[in-house]
Amino acid sequence: MWGIIATWRMAVEGITKASEMLKNGGNAGDAIEVAVKEVEDFPYYKSVGYGGLPNEEMEVELDAAYMDGDTLDIGAVAAIKDFANPISIARRLSQESVNNLLVGEGAEKFAHRHGFERKNMLTDRAKIHYHNRVKEVQETEIKPYAGHDTVGMVCLDSAGKMTAATSTSGLFMKKKGRVGDSPISGSGFYVDSEVGGASATGLGEDVMKGCVSYEIVRLMKEGMHPQQACETAVNLFDKTLRERRGKAGDMSLIAMNNKGEWGVATNIEGFSFSVATEGQEPIVYLTKNVDGKCIHEVASQEWLDEYMRTRTAPLVEK
Ligand code: GLY
Repeated sequence: MWGIIATWRMAVEGITKASEMLKNGGNAGDAIEVAVKEVEDFPYYKSVGYGGLPNEEMEVELDAAYMDGDTLDIGAVAAIKDFANPISIARRLSQESVNNLLVGEGAEKFAHRHGFERKNMLTDRAKIHYHNRVKEVQETEIKPYAGHDTVGMVCLDSAGKMTAATSTSGLFMKKKGRVGDSPISGSGFYVDSEVGGASATGLGEDVMKGCVSYEIVRLMKEGMHPQQACETAVNLFDKTLRERRGKAGDMSLIAMNNKGEWGVATNIEGFSFSVATEGQEPIVYLTKNVDGKCIHEVASQEWLDEYMRTRTAPLVEK
């Protein structure tokens, strides 16, 4: 059995490429890297890689992580600028025995030394979004932050190896140097090939308070199906945050176990995810949480068309 599951509709082209590799005996490390790179390279996704929205100083600082579920090796970069594929740098770092999580200039030096492709990740479209948001914040006093749609994936290959990966530009208009959950083991991702893996998207500051990805893997290890593990962890932690802090940030988690069974839970409206397995062609679902149960519906063609139309619609400076 092989399979790959990812946060958001934006991952479907990537998991389609990955599923071709997995179908032909490809390994979970290569497949997940190819899938995440596809998202990083697409300029119209505003929250990952090229075209990602900048921090408050109009710089695109990116976070990414890779984990090998066989060896438990982890590699991650945070607040890295001007490199095309943070996921590939994170994967390369997972091969080091120490210095596995590098930030900012240190991550850039490592990437340069190892010949990774340099690229100015700030697009003209992202600049327009930035200028428009600055105006909105001044005129309407709305919060600068909005959107934190990390791509997070879990992959299983036919040899039983599992991997997890994340990539994000983090919160729009974040402070320079701000790091979210995505490169943090246990929060943004976790995978153990003997059990399964999980990955998160949402408000990093809150996801980190609950180490939610690790919690889901722990629940699967205790015997829960991935769906039950996701719902248990997300519902319980959402409730804890509301009780202790009066509110809970957005939180959506995907998981897959080492049998290729998967699960998803969210505390927001309109969370989409993409999945492909040996028995299931790549597909996009929308999910909603109804009294603690997350109901998944296949996204309609109309929804998919509208998604791409809004992502690529011409953008004007206000
Ligand atoms: N979940 C991504 C972030 O908060 O940066």
